[in-house]
Amino acid sequence: MNDEPLILAFCCHYCAYAAADLAGSMRLQYPDNVRVLRLPCTGKLEANYVLAAFERGVDGVIVAGCLEGGCHFLEGNLRARKRVERVRQLLAEIGLEPERLEMFNLSSAEGPRFAEIVTAMVERVKRMGNSPLRPDRARAEEGALEMSRQAEAMLEGEKR
Ligand code: FES
Repeated sequence: MNDEPLILAFCCHYCAYAAADLAGSMRLQYPDNVRVLRLPCTGKLEANYVLAAFERGVDGVIVAGCLEGGCHFLEGNLRARKRVERVRQLLAEIGLEPERLEMFNLSSAEGPRFAEIVTAMVERVKRMGNSPLRPDRARAEEGALEMSRQAEAMLEGEKR
């Protein structure tokens, strides 16, 4: 049985996704427990996407958007922060630790910081243990990948 935590990272295309890419090209070492889901802006993140990720059994969620004042859609990252706060309250109401969800702001040049964020989140979730909602690692992984594929299809649709 694979007890390794699974983290889903909702990353803005302009910053966190680029930072994740940079971390990869710099060959930085960080745990491979994270699956990255690309969004055009964190402002596109609906509360129910985050809840759906937990429902599918991921153990933790990172929301990563541009630096404050640097959102390409002006206030998308500020709206996302409010939604994240709301979802943290909902998690507490249903008995899940709100610390399983965290929002970060970073620039596209912060590959090393992306690696640090992932490492810290994996450590945090390991201390809490796996989510009680997780069916098993393989199904949670499938759920995260499916969400990622849907987000990519949406992004492609928006480009057309
Ligand atoms: Fe990056 Fe809005 S464009 S958070």
